[in-house]
Amino acid sequence: MNNESARQMPRTLVLIGFMGSGKSTIGRKLHQQLGYQLIDTDQLIEAGTKKSIQQIFTDDGEESFRDLESAMLNELAVSPAANRIISTGGGVVLREQNRKLLRDLGFVVWLRASAKEIFRRTASSKHRPLLQTHDPEAVIHTMMTERDALYKETCHLEIDTADLDMEEACAGIMECASYHFKQCEQ
Ligand code: S3P
Repeated sequence: MNNESARQMPRTLVLIGFMGSGKSTIGRKLHQQLGYQLIDTDQLIEAGTKKSIQQIFTDDGEESFRDLESAMLNELAVSPAANRIISTGGGVVLREQNRKLLRDLGFVVWLRASAKEIFRRTASSKHRPLLQTHDPEAVIHTMMTERDALYKETCHLEIDTADLDMEEACAGIMECASYHFKQCEQ
C-alpha cells in the first residue's frame, strides 16, 4: 500500500476496562486531541432503545443488554468508518465473539485501575446496575478477578490509570496507536 492510501485508512481506537476505569474521560480527552469521532456504546444502546442501561437491566435482564451490546459492536464493525474512538461498557469482553470483534475494529486499549481505586471512583454512582448491591466492593473484586484475563486477552495495550495522569495516559495511547496503525498499513 502506498503512503497516499495509507493516510486515508480510517483508524479506530477502542477503549475497554472495568466500570470507573476512565474510558469516558480518556475518550473525551483523546477526542479533543485527535479530533476523531467519539462513540460510546452504552449511549448508543440507550439512544436506540430509548431506555437507560438501568431500565434495560431491570425490565429485560442482563442477557438482553448483552445482546444489544453485541449487536451494537456488529453494527460498528460494518458501518463505514471515519477515524473514531469507541468507548465500551465494562462487560463487553464477556462474550468471545465481542472480544474478536473488538480486536478487528481497531487498536484496543485496556484502562486498568485497582479494585480499591475503582470502588472509590464508583462509590457515588447510581447508574451502574451491577454495583447497586449491599457490598459493591466485594462485587468489584469478584468481577475483576473474572474479567482481567479477558481484558488482557483482548487488548493491544494495557495502561494503568493509577500510575499516570490523564495527559500522560493519552500521550502514551496516541504514540502506541500511531505505531500500531502504521504497522497495519504497511
Ligand atoms: C457494565 C458496565 C457499564 C454498562 C453496564 C454493564 C459492566 O458501563 O455497560 O452497566 O458489565 O461492567 P461502564 O463500564 O461505562 O460503567
